[in-house]
Amino acid sequence: MTRFVDVRNMVRWAAAQGPEQIMAGMVGYLEDDFRRWPTFDKTPRVASHTPFGVLELMPTSDYETYGFKYVNGHPSNPARGYQTVTAFGVLADVHNGYPTFLSEMTLLTAFRTAATSAMAAKYLAPRGARTMAMIGSGSQAEFQALAMRAVLGIDTLRIWDTDPLAMDKAVRNLTPLGFQVTVASSAGDAVRGAEVITTCTADKAFATVLSDADVRPGVHLNAIGGDCPGKTELEAAILDRADVFVEFTPQTRIEGEIQHQPADFAVTELWEVVTGARPGRTGAEQITLFDSVGFAIEDFSALRYLRDAVDGTDFFEEIDLVAAPDDPKDLFGLVMSPLPV
Ligand SMILES: NC(=O)c1ccc[n+]([C@@H]2O[C@H](COP(=O)([O-])OP(=O)(O)OC[C@H]3O[C@@H](n4cnc5c(N)ncnc54)[C@H](O)[C@@H]3O)[C@@H](O)[C@H]2O)c1
Repeated sequence: MTRFVDVRNMVRWAAAQGPEQIMAGMVGYLEDDFRRWPTFDKTPRVASHTPFGVLELMPTSDYETYGFKYVNGHPSNPARGYQTVTAFGVLADVHNGYPTFLSEMTLLTAFRTAATSAMAAKYLAPRGARTMAMIGSGSQAEFQALAMRAVLGIDTLRIWDTDPLAMDKAVRNLTPLGFQVTVASSAGDAVRGAEVITTCTADKAFATVLSDADVRPGVHLNAIGGDCPGKTELEAAILDRADVFVEFTPQTRIEGEIQHQPADFAVTELWEVVTGARPGRTGAEQITLFDSVGFAIEDFSALRYLRDAVDGTDFFEEIDLVAAPDDPKDLFGLVMSPLPV
């Protein structure tokens, strides 16, 4: 039997645990997996680009457990009543290849993306940061805010979105959670006084949602929306002033902000900072940039966290996903003598 967390159980679990606690716990799993990064089987995700958006498969393995996520990215979806990003994912046992765990990952991706951002910020953001600017206040925004509060202590938000309704929604969701939220009049206004700047917009374009002139020394940039070829958020000049941190360099060179840069543009992989092999933030004037695109190991960590967290609870069900005849060579026998319904 395969354990399965559907949307209903994901929502029940998230409500019972609390989103902030989930992301705080997930950071620990992410750090564990980033510490053993070299031991994973890694490949840039497999992307199918269409005029509507991108459909992607994100596989990895630690040679005991294999995992993959299916995810889409369709920036034009909300205007048609659909979400920009949806996902589901699987863990499988390497020794026999059987899937052991299956989950919805639309919500889990939001948790894992924000937890990864917070983990990066833990090593890269200036000490004592309390204020975060958020440019883009769509589906990911509240998750980003809560994860940054759990890990850094961010309690003040300055938000900007080209859609006023998205900002209204963020204020409605975040104010009761205890955040001080200011609605800004532009991206430049949003970043005033912020020690951390998160860009989480969706537009299939080389957009400039943040200009170089608005980036002051000492800030940490958490850029999550530039995650596809032809889809970036930052004015390229920012990268000349920043130290750039990435997940898996071969994938980020195709998809991240650094797609505008030469192939030898210097980056540091985040796992090297987590292990202490290379420095993260080294000075008060340093601009740090996490050029996030989302990598398969983060989904693997999130699925591991969820699998362990729901063990022994009723937040999952068991489904009959693998056809397994008593005689492993007699698969056809199942067709000849169907199980009673
Ligand atoms: N790096 C990762 O691991 C990762 C993971 C998940 C999602 N993402 C990306 O994060 C982005 C946000 O995802 P989402 O699910 O919140 O999308 P969403 O469509 O729900 O929200 C995006 C918001 O950006 C706003 N926006 C678009 N252009 C803007 C601009 N120029 N200035 C200000 N606001 C602007 C839109 O009005 C919308 O409210 C997407 O691009 C998605 O692909 C990245």
